[in-house]
Amino acid sequence: MSKIGIIGRSVIVIRPDESMRLIVTAFVGVLLGFLVGLSFSDSVSRFTSSPVKDAYSSISTEQLLHHAFKGSSTQVQTTSNNTSKIWASSNPRGAERLPPGIVVAESDLYARRLWGEPNEDLAMKPKYLVTFTVGLSQKSNIDAAIKKFSESFTIMLFHYDGQTSEWDDLEWSKRAIHVSVSKQTKWWYAKRFLHPDVVAPYDYIFIWDEDLGLENFDAEEYLMLVEKHGLEISQPGLYPDRGTTWHMTKRRTDLEVHKNTTERPGWCTDPNLPPCAAFVEIMAPVFSRDAWRCVWHMIQNDLVHGWGLDLALRKCVEPAEEKIGVVDAQWIDHQIVPSLGNQGLSENGKAPWEGVRERCIKEWSIFRDRFYNADKAYYKEMGIDPPNSTSV
Ligand SMILES: *[C@@H]1O[C@H](CO)[C@@H](O)[C@H](O)[C@H]1NC(C)=O
Ligand SMILES: *[C@@H]1O[C@H](CO)[C@@H](O)[C@H](O)[C@H]1NC(C)=O
Ligand SMILES: *[C@@H]1O[C@H](CO)[C@@H](O)[C@H](O)[C@H]1NC(C)=O
Ligand SMILES: *[C@@H]1O[C@H](CO)[C@@H](O)[C@H](O)[C@H]1NC(C)=O
Repeated sequence: MSKIGIIGRSVIVIRPDESMRLIVTAFVGVLLGFLVGLSFSDSVSRFTSSPVKDAYSSISTEQLLHHAFKGSSTQVQTTSNNTSKIWASSNPRGAERLPPGIVVAESDLYARRLWGEPNEDLAMKPKYLVTFTVGLSQKSNIDAAIKKFSESFTIMLFHYDGQTSEWDDLEWSKRAIHVSVSKQTKWWYAKRFLHPDVVAPYDYIFIWDEDLGLENFDAEEYLMLVEKHGLEISQPGLYPDRGTTWHMTKRRTDLEVHKNTTERPGWCTDPNLPPCAAFVEIMAPVFSRDAWRCVWHMIQNDLVHGWGLDLALRKCVEPAEEKIGVVDAQWIDHQIVPSLGNQGLSENGKAPWEGVRERCIKEWSIFRDRFYNADKAYYKEMGIDPPNSTSV
């Protein structure tokens, strides 16, 4: 068991002063699978990589594959030098040397057993993923929230305060995936642990804050409405109104779903653009698989607060004013509990939250500039005039 413990709790030190503890117990199975895969593909390549000039490149990969497997099954390692080297350009980038039949381009977060038949490991495969970025002080709120998500959901917690074993007593905690890295934001975690190829089996991905009240929310009912109204990016309506900034995300009592709103005069230059349409906020977004594949690419590695990201989500779906919306019939209460915002560093006599706030605003402007420049560079390269509303 001690060996398993070591695999399950790998320790990665990023900086000497800031040790980073990753607890990804659910990856044990994946890791084992990877090792097995390595040794297997190794035996295949030993057979196919004998040094011959590429005289038979016309031979189909399938034939080769067949040949390779036949060869290895009869323990004949090298019977001829006639095998050509594999180069399957349709494989994912970097994997062209592998026969396509062995390539597993996508993964999942399903925990597996260490024994038995691999194909009997999973009693069910959850279709959805929900992540919360949490500190221990919100334990009871998160416990209540998780109860709104059925067994159809994989649960993933990102711990920013290093306290993980404190959650062990909760029944669902054992089937959850816990990732613990000190003082990081949810977009930092999302970029690193929710790669689209890893979360590919999930139809929808919830990337949520910890201070949400879910008394009037049911996740599966929510998703039924999302599908009914064709929403690729969505959030539940916010209620009660706690002085939230945007009209768009307030719950409407007369509708199931809304996709646009009227803002205060002067706030919307175009009724089809944020913050009047094509817009949800970043505290409780829900992405379809395809939308997430795009949004993941838009997340910047250094801009960790995600400010401005909500205004840019529309770049990922088309037409954005149809596919981004707020679900009113399943609403949540954004309780606005100070959390990670308080975990900054007190500098020059300023409170920690002030430094965090400043950084948020700074990041927003950096993001806007990057997007503007990227747009400009693209249109210039293509030799066409940019459309009028490209900036974030
Ligand atoms: C390939 O095999 C032929 C005969 O089977 C041999 O004469 C030749 O030297 C081999 N070439 C290489 C590169 O091994
Ligand atoms: C290599 O391929 C050629 C042409 O297909 C064939 O004539 C020859 O017998 C093969 N050599 C070996 C060692 O299999
Ligand atoms: C929302 O869009 C619909 C359809 O384009 C339009 O009829 C409606 O007036 C818009 N509502 C608001 C509040 O702008
Ligand atoms: C873009 O803006 C220019 C100048 O403001 C205007 O003449 C033009 O019609 C606009 N194009 C579109 C597609 O709205």
